[in-house]
This record gives sequence, structure tokens and C-alpha cells, in this order.
Amino acid sequence: MTKPLTARPSARLSGRVRVPGDKSISHRALILGALATGTTRIAGLLEAADVEATAKAIAALGAEVGRSNGAVAVKGQGVGGLRAPSSALDFGNSGTASRLMLGVIAGHDMQVELTGDASLQRRPMGRVLTPLAAMGLQTDADTERATLPLTVRGTPDLLPIIYDLPVPSAQVKSAVLLAGLHAPGRTTVVEPLVARDHTERMLGFFGAEIVSDDRGDGARAVSVCGDAELHGASIEVPGDPSSAAFLIAAGLIAPQSDIVIENVLLNPTRSGFVETLREMGANIEIVDRRDQGGEPAGDLRVQTSALKGVRVPPERAPSMIDEYPILACLAAFAEGETAMEGLAELKVKESDRLAATEAGLIACGISASVEGDTLFVEGKGEVEGGAQVAAAMDHRIAMAFLTLGLGARSPVSIDDASMIATSFPNFQELMTRLGANIS
Ligand code: S3P
Repeated sequence: MTKPLTARPSARLSGRVRVPGDKSISHRALILGALATGTTRIAGLLEAADVEATAKAIAALGAEVGRSNGAVAVKGQGVGGLRAPSSALDFGNSGTASRLMLGVIAGHDMQVELTGDASLQRRPMGRVLTPLAAMGLQTDADTERATLPLTVRGTPDLLPIIYDLPVPSAQVKSAVLLAGLHAPGRTTVVEPLVARDHTERMLGFFGAEIVSDDRGDGARAVSVCGDAELHGASIEVPGDPSSAAFLIAAGLIAPQSDIVIENVLLNPTRSGFVETLREMGANIEIVDRRDQGGEPAGDLRVQTSALKGVRVPPERAPSMIDEYPILACLAAFAEGETAMEGLAELKVKESDRLAATEAGLIACGISASVEGDTLFVEGKGEVEGGAQVAAAMDHRIAMAFLTLGLGARSPVSIDDASMIATSFPNFQELMTRLGANIS
């Protein structure tokens, strides 16, 4: 069922809110919990459709997922201890769930069918199947060009590999490291630019032997020792910076606003958005920085700010890959041109985000263009709005343009907000609590 929503010009946003748990950390906590011995307790797990897909998948593979004292509890089966599911695993809209779980399945003697929704069925799986096939995973599909639905066969005799990532992708890195847990010796992934490192951090937290080695020019090699034993742990998931991004943006563009977003993950591999906004002149203050279960977190105070256009270099892309649609919307409120470079990966997200962002901006009366992998936005300090934007069945496109509508002169509507439930189910509620007009 489609759910149209409209955002109207809003001012004086104020108050303190907490965004739901980080999506990337939530997936990984469930997966490592399933591969550990003993019980893993996860407080603050994101309760949204994408993470539910991972929870269902690990349960179908034999891990016990339940609740105790407000936290989610996973009783793991040990590395290599999962069993074949009785039916196909459906990953819904979640690229992360499907790709990380392929790495887990690879190390088990089982045949599994994987599927997903229309958006996920269009996304490339070859990027994970290529290294996993080199380790021993079998598939009847064309490894390089495969998409879901897909049948794969894992093996308890995986081979360790050294893999040079052709794209800076945390999903591919994680899939290979998770498979590497099941192979003898060391499995190494070399990434050209460091992508989010939650898998490495959490593997260390669960007791795996993991080593990172900087290779210069932003590259890094990460190795995991196989035949590992993981021990159930207690995880507290900090708030998702990719969800907080929409609230930050609203606070910056809605006149006379002053808001605090509590308990946001501040991992440096995810901080490109705040770094860029500061270069644009945004007034964002980090209050009470702390460590939360191996990940840095803190509160963010955001006040309305006059922004200026900037050049965002390609090497920053991995640290803010999901934030470009909302950054592009903010760039429209800045004075001058913003050039966002190195965005090829945006074409293979939940939608072609490069095309969907450009089309939405143009519909709102903003001058935007894509040349090669660069997105240009001409900021005029104010935005007309008064448009209907196609969300392209993509949660982040939907939230980006609703946020833009809060600062525009006329309301902005999106055709369908239902996909927001995949990552940020209480988006509208939190925005409304701050004083934003979205209905
Ligand atoms: C994610 C990695 C990123 C990101 C996605 C979550 C993860 O994808 O876009 O939303 O949790 O590993 P890529 O690894 O394809 O860049």
C-alpha cells in the first residue's frame, strides 16, 4: 500500500530526540550473535524491516532469537554450527542482510535459496559472489552478473583468500571476513578506501583474532584468523548517524531552530556528512563524547545555519555514502555550487540514487546535474519547493525530500513513504516532536 506524505515549511524546531539504533551495527550484532557460543544481548537494536530480515534469517538457520529485559537475546550455535533452512530466505529490501548472510552461508555445508523484493532483485550480487566463489561457495548463476533470487551451496572446507576489493564496499568486505571465520588460516581483504569498520570492531569484541594494517593512500588490509571461536557478548547499539542526518538537516534549514540528537554513533568511518556540513558552515556541536561497547558515540546540538557550497572529494564517499541524497538537498539551501564527486556506487543502492536525487531537485526548482560520477547542485540560499517528488521506492530519497520540504517556501510531497519503515520507522514521529510539519 502506498503512503503519500507532505512536508510543509516549518520553523523553530526544538527539543531533544534519540534516533533508533544503527542499522549496520544491528545487522552485525545479530549475525555475530548467531555465530557465537552462548548468548548475546543486544540493547537498542534497530527494530525496522531490514534488520528483521536478518533476525528471521538467523532464526531460520537455527539461532534462537528472543527478548529478555528490554533487550534482544540471540543464542548462538558457534562458528560453522548453523543448519539448512526449511525454505527460501527472504531479505526484503536489505542489501546488507543478503550480502552479509551470503558470507555466513558460504562456510556451512548447506544449500540455500535467497530472495528479496523488487528493488533488491535489481541489485548486484556478483560483488560478493566473486570472492566467495574463490573461497568455495557454489552457485548455479553467472557469478559476476548474478542477482536474487539465487541458490547457493556452502562448504565446511572454505579456502582462505587475499582479496583486493574492486569497489570500496563494507558489505563485500564484511561478507569475505564472515566467510573467513570458517576457513583455516588468514583471510585478508584489502580496501582501496576504508569503508565502515563495524564488522572488524565487533569481531574483535566477540574474541576473534583480527588485524588491520594501513597501506598508505587511504588503503587498508584487514585479516581475520579462521576456525575462530566467538563468545556471546553484550552490545549496546548507538543511534544511527544515517537516520540522524535527516534531523540534522532539518535543524540546519528550518529557521531559528536549536535541537539536540542524543546518543549518535560517531565512528570516523561514518562521519563524512558532519565533516562536510562543518565545511559548509553548519553549526553542529558534539556534546558528551563517549565510548559505547567499542564504538564512539555522543550527542549532537544543531542550530540553524547559513551554508555555503563546497567540493566534496571522492575519497570521502565511503564515510557518507548513504547521506548524499540529503546532502544534495541541503546544498540547494547553500550559497554557491556544491560538487559531490565519486558517486558511482549511488547508482546501485535501493534505487539509482544519483538519478532519483537529480530528478527530485529539478522538480523542486533547483538547478542540479550529473556529469560522470559527479553531482552538481547550484545553491541559491533558498528553495522554491511546491513539487511532488518520486521516492523511487527508496527510504532515503523519501526522507531527504520530506526534509527539504521543511525548509522550502512551498510544501513538498512524496508519492510513497512506506519504505521509510525499512530503516527509520519513527521518522515522522520524531520530526513532528521537534515541531516539523509532516502529514
Ligand atoms: C552498509 C554498507 C553500505 C551502505 C549500506 C550499509 C553496511 O553499502 O550503503 O546502507 O552495513 O555494510 P556498500 O557496502 O555497498 O557501500
